[in-house]
Amino acid sequence: MSLAGKKILIGVCGGIAAYKIPLLVRLLKKNKAEVRVVMTASAIEFVSPLTLSVLSESKVLYEFQDEKHQWNNHVELGLWADVFLVAPATAKTISAMAHGYADNLLLTTYLSARCPVFVAPAMDLDMYSHLSTKKNLEKLAQFGNHIIESTEGELASGLVGKGRMEEPEKIFLSLQKFFENKERLKGKKILITAGPTHEKIDPVRFFGNHSTGKMGYAIAKVAADNGAEVKLISGPVHLKLEHKNIEIISVESALQMYDEVERNFDSCDVAIMTAAVADYRPEQVAAQKIKKEDELLNLKLIKNPDILKEMGKRKKHQLLIGFALETQNAVENAQKKLTKKNADLIVLNSLENQGAGFAHATNQVDFVTPEGVQHFDLKLKSEVAEDIINFIIENM
Ligand code: C5P
Repeated sequence: MSLAGKKILIGVCGGIAAYKIPLLVRLLKKNKAEVRVVMTASAIEFVSPLTLSVLSESKVLYEFQDEKHQWNNHVELGLWADVFLVAPATAKTISAMAHGYADNLLLTTYLSARCPVFVAPAMDLDMYSHLSTKKNLEKLAQFGNHIIESTEGELASGLVGKGRMEEPEKIFLSLQKFFENKERLKGKKILITAGPTHEKIDPVRFFGNHSTGKMGYAIAKVAADNGAEVKLISGPVHLKLEHKNIEIISVESALQMYDEVERNFDSCDVAIMTAAVADYRPEQVAAQKIKKEDELLNLKLIKNPDILKEMGKRKKHQLLIGFALETQNAVENAQKKLTKKNADLIVLNSLENQGAGFAHATNQVDFVTPEGVQHFDLKLKSEVAEDIINFIIENM
């Protein structure tokens, strides 16, 4: 895909990987993108603004004012860009971005940019693996920024490990894929449930489960990056996600989740039920905290509605996707679920696989459809999310 007409703003920080940015600018220009560059003061020690100006065919900015004391307008720069790529992103700039510091032109541009932001970190391995860097990158991901992970290899220090900036060709491909993908689900409405539900016992206690919501949130992000309008109905989780295409509706109990799904189902094109909904809830919620008096406490539980099954009965044009977590006769049970719940796809998680299921960053799934079973290897939840979105695009 040509990048003709795409406006790419590159923010260069002071790391040795800055020497690779001229190659990236050339690659983008060869593919017809418009490129502008903003640098930090330390970046100009590593790569010359003149080099980047010649290659980008534009004025390179690194100060708040130019030689005639005119303001270099970061707001205009941020609004101009279709994408803002910070590369190489140093530990300091990543930290500043995560905390809203804005004491140079690159950082003020970041805060004022409304476009999607890509971040390609580059630093020595211990800095990269430091908890504070990890937390800062997590925070940027929660802001909806796209992290182009560092790769492993030889570092400038002579040490070998993770921290190298991804190669310019790969960064280019990430940007190209972003522009290609963002049209794929344009105009489509996707409803996603995620996380656990909490079923109240009394004012201070509830039944819950170990679902973290990671899988559902990963699907929401990929769907939104593909241009879909996403409603994410989320049980109580510790995750945060900001994306202009995602509306998060927070709920606690299965009944609340059911109400929100019902309200939004008819107008959606695809519904993906990843939530680990409690099958039962206490029949009565005690008005006061239950005292520990008797040796035996009996709680009467009543069945919750099966949201997926109910939507299966209602569906018209919608593509309906459910998840299944099985501990025995996995495929057979998933096939039964597919029919019983009138779903188009059951994504089967197996707990037998290390690294799959609750809380992990990875998952191993099988796609169970009326046509058969497709097996996938263990991969990142973000990659599983991409497989699900690809399925949707092929089957809608
Ligand atoms: O029947 P089981 O709970 O194993 O099915 C799992 C699938 O059904 C998941 O997609 C889950 O989100 C959905 N489900 C639901 N409402 C329930 C229970 C499960 O939507 N009460």
